[in-house]
Parts: sequence; C-alpha cells; structure tokens
Amino acid sequence: MERIPISDTLGMFELAKRLEAEGRRIYHFEVGQPDFPTPENIINAGIEALNRGFTRYTPSRGIPPLLDAIGKFYNDRGIKINGQKNVIVTPGAKMALFQGFLSTIDAGDDVLVLSPAWPTYRVMIRTVGAKPVDVGTFPGYVLNEEALKNACSKSVTALVINTPNNPTGGVLDKDHLKLIHDLSVDHDFVVFSDEIYEMLVYDGFEQSSMLEIDPNMDHTLIISGFSKTYAMTGWRLGYAIGNEETINNMVRIQQNTTSCATSFVQYAGYEALTGDQNSIKKMTADYQKRRDVITSIFCNMPGVQCVSPKGAFYVFPDFSTYGFSSNTLAELILKKVGITSTPGIVFGKLYDSHLRFSYATELSEIKEGLGKLADFLLTLL
Ligand SMILES: Cc1ncc(COP(=O)(O)O)c(C=O)c1O
Repeated sequence: MERIPISDTLGMFELAKRLEAEGRRIYHFEVGQPDFPTPENIINAGIEALNRGFTRYTPSRGIPPLLDAIGKFYNDRGIKINGQKNVIVTPGAKMALFQGFLSTIDAGDDVLVLSPAWPTYRVMIRTVGAKPVDVGTFPGYVLNEEALKNACSKSVTALVINTPNNPTGGVLDKDHLKLIHDLSVDHDFVVFSDEIYEMLVYDGFEQSSMLEIDPNMDHTLIISGFSKTYAMTGWRLGYAIGNEETINNMVRIQQNTTSCATSFVQYAGYEALTGDQNSIKKMTADYQKRRDVITSIFCNMPGVQCVSPKGAFYVFPDFSTYGFSSNTLAELILKKVGITSTPGIVFGKLYDSHLRFSYATELSEIKEGLGKLADFLLTLL
C-alpha cells in the first residue's frame, strides 16, 4: 500500500467543499470530466438494453457487436485491426491500462513516462512493482527528442505517451509518433499510447493513432475509452487494442478480476460508436470556443506563460514569475478568489510552477472566475 499514495490534492478539495458549505462562491476548474450530460441516444440505448434483459455476464473480451464496432471505428480510418482479436473492452480506460501494465511489465522494470503526465500512470507502474521514470518535454511540452533518447536504457520495458495530453492539451503528430516507434523497436520496449482524448481536437487537427505507425502492434498497446468523447465517465467503459498475445493475456486477467465490463453499458457503447455523432460535434465545438476564451485570458494575465492547447479540455499555465510552489499557489487562489485548480506538481516534479485548469465548465464560469483571478494576480506583483 505504500506504493499507492493518498491523493496530494485531497486536502485542498476538502477545503473547497468546506468553503462552499460556508456559502462561499467556488469556481471549479479542477474537474477532469465533461460537464455535458451523456447524449440522449446513448442513455436510451442503455435503458433499452436493460429492458431487453442484458443484465448478465458477457464474454470477458466484450460483446461481439461492440468489438466489431470498435474494429470498424479504426478500419474506417484505414487502420486494419480485427475487432474480435485485437480488442478488449474494459470497465474504463483505467482498467485497460492496469491490465496492460500487469500483463507486460515485471517488478524492477523501468517504465518511461512522457511528462507532464496524468498521475495515475506512475501510481499503477509502482503498484506492479516497476519504477516510473519521468521524461520531460520542455520546452514545447510535447516531445524533447534528446531527453527521450537519453532515457532509453536496457532496463526500460515500456513508455507511456498520451496524446492529446492531460494536463497540457499538447498533441504528438505523426512524425513524433514515428520517432517514438523507432526508439521502441531499437530498444525493444512497448509503447502504451493513451489516446482517450483523440476525438477532442481543435482547429481541424486530426490526431494520428500509434496504430498507423505500428500496424502489427509489435511494440504498441492502445488505451482508449468512452468517458471523454461521449461524456460517459460514470458508465465506466474503455478498451485496449493490441496484438493477439497481449490482448489474450489481458482477457485472462479480466476473466479473473472484473469478469467483464457491465453488460448494458456495452450496448450503450455500441450506440455511442454507431449512432448519431452530432452531439459529439457540438460538444467539441463548445470546448473549442472555451479553449479560445480561456487561453486568451491566461495569455493576457501578467507574468503568466500559457500555451494554447490543441486538444483535451485543460490548460496548463506557468506561474513561475510569482515564485510559489504549485500547492501553495493553488491553495492561495482557492482561499482568496474561490477558484479550484490542480497543482502542477501532481503531473511531474518539473512542473511545480504550473497549475492545471479544466475548461469542462461553462463559458460564463470561465469568464467570471478567471476575471477575478487576473485581478488577484495583479495584487501579487
Ligand atoms: C489521460 C487519461 N487517460 C485515461 C483516463 C481515464 O479514463 P476512464 O474514465 O475511461 O477510466 C483519464 C481520466 O481522467 C485521463 O485523463
């Protein structure tokens, strides 16, 4: 249990709850989930599946129509995978990731993590007895080729990448992915490519999948899911795509742990992939509008450096001018302005001058809350 830390930010979120209970107006920018409801057609498909009696165990790998739909989702983009053989459906992308680590990593291995990175990767890597090794992406927050090459050693058995990235919204393009794949072949490690935000991209950017670079999946395991694109966080539905051997190993783990993803949820997932996509387009367009507003607010704040995100729903501005640690600054702006954010330190030691703000929140909240933050920062200079 010592390998699984208690969340660093728990104390702060409890403080936020206490302030709220005292009647303080709190602006929430810490949430890592869509504020939109799950689209109605998906909800109805879940209800219908319940009414049709889909309330029993399913095959551990997932229900065949959903496996096919996931296969088709990639085939339509020219990626040749076989849904029945290369896919496992899991209760959330988190479970896909954990099963992936369990089936490919040994205790004592080094696992590289391109950082800043979602903290769960490091915790899971430690949980399986391996050692997470952060590889910084300064100065552009996307990929520092030299740092990555220098980190590749014999003890490295895997690398975790995430594009679009939580917390920066930065994206790896095809050339980056190619370079990463070449390194994985040269040094014989597996790339865990977390592509869960791949549909939430802006300005016409199209996110390439690592599957396009490594179609045989000899060195690749894709992690993805429904939580973000389809606003389905609480349904718990994710999947992994990989070579048959890895997926079969993961199926063995799933058979003996969770058995399967929830049956009626899998039918809702089928509707998400095959049904009307208009609500997805609308949500993405809304995120892009918010992204434009939040980025311009941060870029105009005194002493704040902010890179415009190309995907996901987070910004990761740098407040180094102010000289506070990220925990201190996050607590200060919570107490003084009533704004919750996530301290940069949780995404990697190198990022202790940053805060993450999620824009999965209404435009009016963004404008009002961050207007107050800008006024407050002026008093600190
Ligand atoms: C990068 C990343 N991957 C995976 C997940 C988890 O997804 P799921 O809800 O499918 O477990 C998250 C959730 O915050 C995330 O940010």
